[in-house]
Amino acid sequence: MERIQSALERARSKRIGAPSRKPAGSRVKKLARPDEVQDRWNALQTFEPNPKVLAKNRIHTLERGELSVPLDMLRTKVLQLMRNNGWKRLAITSPNSSCGKTTTSLNLAFGIARQLEHAPILIEMDLRRPNLASTLGMPKTDLQFSKVLEGEAPIASQLRRIGANLAVGANASPARHPSELLQSDTMKAALEEIEASYAPSLLIFDMPPMLVSDDMIGFADSVDCVLLVAAAESTTIKELDDCERELGERTNVLGVVLNKCRYMGKEYGYNYYG
Ligand SMILES: Nc1ncnc2c1ncn2[C@@H]1O[C@H](COP(=O)(O)OP(=O)(O)OP(=O)(O)O)[C@@H](O)[C@H]1O
Ligand SMILES: [Mg+2]
Repeated sequence: MERIQSALERARSKRIGAPSRKPAGSRVKKLARPDEVQDRWNALQTFEPNPKVLAKNRIHTLERGELSVPLDMLRTKVLQLMRNNGWKRLAITSPNSSCGKTTTSLNLAFGIARQLEHAPILIEMDLRRPNLASTLGMPKTDLQFSKVLEGEAPIASQLRRIGANLAVGANASPARHPSELLQSDTMKAALEEIEASYAPSLLIFDMPPMLVSDDMIGFADSVDCVLLVAAAESTTIKELDDCERELGERTNVLGVVLNKCRYMGKEYGYNYYG
């Protein structure tokens, strides 16, 4: 662990003339819950996940328990950083595929929703290989949240509420032109409409990996901050450093989650480097 931490620090300190980070709070709004917003949440179709399916898919934060502890710690650090800076939009990405972005996104979303003053909305932005619905155990679905981003479907038709204060936007199929969509004005307007209509305390975006497309880089200026997920034993320090540097030029990097650490045993294999 210390080796990774110091390697990251060395890599960070070597960057010459690292660009300054985005000014905080450009999109800060106070969470307000007027009746009409609450009515919109209440009117959303609901989905009740099966806890056994979630556990099988390594989602452990539906309730507090031994396995939720490291994930709850990550949640708390993320929330503190975001609250202190007035940040509302969080993207979760990784250098390569299968590092655990979707698992981390869902664990954070459920963990945050256990704090009832929060109302997070988790949106699947991996529009090339969507799998949020299957990880959640949604039965065969025709949900296609990308249609909202394309301005072709009403938000309410594509969001599903889980419990009182969590909503998710998932996709049954890949979208047609993900890279262009994630940079489009139509997509930006759709996100603003979601914020205006549902006043989420946080928007969480489950992103594709950075090294296979420009989707994340193109979307980076639409978020306030990013969390990088690395897979122990497969992501290299160089890949992490390259991604962190690229992201750092466009948004705020909250830190690196080291996932799949086998030797951490019961702690679920998560570690966080801010
Ligand atoms: N800590 C962990 N230990 C072991 N396996 C894990 C861990 N976290 C996630 N996985 C497993 O790794 C696989 C990939 O996880 P996940 O779908 O979250 O990754 P991803 O980064 O979103 O992948 P993709 O790049 O395909 O979107 C899944 O089978 C998941 O259950
Ligand atoms: Mg994924």
